[in-house]
Amino acid sequence: MTDRYAVIGNPIEQSKSPLIHSEFARQTGQHMEYGRLLGKLEDFLAEVRRFFASGGCGMNVTVPFKEEAWKISSERSPQAESAGAVNTLSLGRGGELRGDNTDGVGLLRDLTENNGFALVGKRVLLLGAGGAARGVLRLLVEGGPAELVVANRTAAKAESLVASGKDYGPLRGSGLDALAGGRFDLIINATSAGLAGEVPSLPDDCLAPHAWTYDMLYGDAPTAFCRWGAAHGADRALDGLGMLVEQAAESFFLWRGVRPNTGPVIALLRRGRKARAEGDGA
Ligand SMILES: NC(=O)c1ccc[n+]([C@@H]2O[C@H](COP(=O)([O-])OP(=O)(O)OC[C@H]3O[C@@H](n4cnc5c(N)ncnc54)[C@H](OP(=O)(O)O)[C@@H]3O)[C@@H](O)[C@H]2O)c1
Repeated sequence: MTDRYAVIGNPIEQSKSPLIHSEFARQTGQHMEYGRLLGKLEDFLAEVRRFFASGGCGMNVTVPFKEEAWKISSERSPQAESAGAVNTLSLGRGGELRGDNTDGVGLLRDLTENNGFALVGKRVLLLGAGGAARGVLRLLVEGGPAELVVANRTAAKAESLVASGKDYGPLRGSGLDALAGGRFDLIINATSAGLAGEVPSLPDDCLAPHAWTYDMLYGDAPTAFCRWGAAHGADRALDGLGMLVEQAAESFFLWRGVRPNTGPVIALLRRGRKARAEGDGA
């Protein structure tokens, strides 16, 4: 029987995970299928139980269920534990639900391995204090920046995120209004402002010379934060498409024990995006 996997979220039809995982499976010769499940808020646990009871092998979890998935996981990886959110579910040997969070690995691989950013000794600003920021905080600090500042529109949330991660390394919380002159080498946008085409309100002088910006969001057109980075002189203004593929690759590895080659899949998604953009413009 073919092994079954799925991504659960609401909405879910936009998810690129089925395409990404089927490419990984084709590339590595794994016999598996990967579908989409539209989850209901009041029925999430029952849906997950049904999926695994009917022979499902693993699930990805996306908005708005990552915190719920954390709660129902009876075993959690250190990444999931510190993130308070789970994006990958598997069954343990005794049939128990095991939760992982692969967002941090995904971001770090895309930033440092795919794009060659050297994190050690750099001044880094992480914007946002929601699930995405929590998911990447620990690995970012462990990557060895000189300083990591977490800034959020609601400053108290940044402070409490920093307090929860105080053992990881040099961390500081801030409001968005206290960043003037920050001269950061890297600004990572983990807010959802871009979903409304907005950019967190930042002072003009918070980028150091040769700084990079990274938006976890991605889309067919350059995101608002990518445009902000380019307009403010960033050497590179990256979006989150590579992170999406890398976090999927880590889930695939956890399930199948095989590491797919992510480069061709990132390139495939970028080609699809370019074709859609050109089609739209025609
Ligand atoms: N590429 C990937 O693989 C990947 C993986 C995970 C997430 N993401 C992306 O990461 C983003 C955040 O997701 P999430 O799950 O963390 O969302 P979330 O838990 O809802 O958190 C949203 C965050 O954005 C802030 N925010 C919202 N609108 C803002 C605005 N107009 N100005 C300034 N700050 C604003 C919120 O600040 P307040 O606390 O003040 O409300 C909060 O910190 C989403 O765009 C998601 O698509 C991408």
